[in-house]
Amino acid sequence: MPVITTIDDLKRIYRRRVPKMFYDYCESGSWTEQTFRENTSDFDQIRLRQRVAVDMDGRTTASQMIGDDVAMPVALAPVGMTGMQHADGEILACRAAQKFGVPYTLSTMSICSIEDVAENVEKPFWFQLYAIKDEDYLRRVIERAKAAKCSALVITLDLQILGQRHKDLKNGLSAPPKMTVPTMLNLATKWGWGLEMLQTKRRFFGNIVGHAKGVSDPSSLMSWTAENFDPTLNWDKIAKIKEMWGGKVILKGVLDVEDARMAAKVGADAIVVSNHGGRQLDGALSSIRMLRPIVDEVGDQVEIHLDSGIRSGQDVLKAVAMGAKGVWIGRAYIYGLGAMGEKGVTRALEVIHKELDVSMALCGRKDANTLDREVLLVPEGFE
Ligand code: FNR
Repeated sequence: MPVITTIDDLKRIYRRRVPKMFYDYCESGSWTEQTFRENTSDFDQIRLRQRVAVDMDGRTTASQMIGDDVAMPVALAPVGMTGMQHADGEILACRAAQKFGVPYTLSTMSICSIEDVAENVEKPFWFQLYAIKDEDYLRRVIERAKAAKCSALVITLDLQILGQRHKDLKNGLSAPPKMTVPTMLNLATKWGWGLEMLQTKRRFFGNIVGHAKGVSDPSSLMSWTAENFDPTLNWDKIAKIKEMWGGKVILKGVLDVEDARMAAKVGADAIVVSNHGGRQLDGALSSIRMLRPIVDEVGDQVEIHLDSGIRSGQDVLKAVAMGAKGVWIGRAYIYGLGAMGEKGVTRALEVIHKELDVSMALCGRKDANTLDREVLLVPEGFE
């Protein structure tokens, strides 16, 4: 067993274990991948102020996100096809998150269904919804999330139309994989992954297949999504979905001050400053660069979270100090899941927690809730 001390260690193991098609699906951005790259490199530009001779005993990373207690201000982001990174991936990731004391978000595009996850975990989780044209389906999936006692609805706003990712097109991404010669050659070297997949009892795309009209098997899903994601989504429709749900709502994928104002006006419980991990509008600014302007504009009206580019506890510290109440991680936990299942997700959370705790202490802070811009050295003109 290799010694795992960083998120990058998990990524290396993940790459060896999982078929190329699914590794590439995770590890890619849209078009030239500029935004994908800058999501991480922009974090490196922000530096931390080292402080000494401060009592650092009795530290805590505990905080709250949308009023729920969390062991650290980190949530697991919705990731489509998580169940292709490891069999039962959504259940395993959710279990790891709940044991650690952080929220888990199930994607509309998950392999395990809402019901699969609810039956196999102990506590409520968050459900992420893509705005779908078919109102009947939308209503029913919201009812299913309510029946499963999901504790928040996350509405993703930045994917009405899919950003093009070259690797997925070139790999012929599909779940289950189509048996072309290159795919078969690749799968032959991934027998550990294959055995897991053969043992799972789950249905592919359990939130959609068998529930949406016109999707009887996963092969018809790609055309269904292209036709059914609602390109006419607007603030009125968002308000309607919020009303249908009736509980806590998080709006994910806000990257602009004007949109943040609208999101606050709609009465969201939180917004996630996000560019979908660099998978949608290539050329958009990184989330961390847009965080400060959005916090300054609406931070007193709505809780603000951030995702895209978080790979370490230091990144968490920087975003929280800049004004995010919490951050979400996507790839960082998927690397762990693909590498080692539930244990790998737990390891990813442990790594990030340790980095956050120690870095906080070395900045002279004992409590994650006291982090503020005083601990940051931000280059001029950063945002
Ligand atoms: C995503 N993301 C995403 N978001 C969402 O709202 N619904 C989804 O189904 C998916 N699917 C998805 C698949 C994969 C493979 C990735 C990497 C991402 C975006 C995700 O929730 C989050 O915004 C980003 O992952 C954050 O960036 P980092 O942490 O991966 O850099």
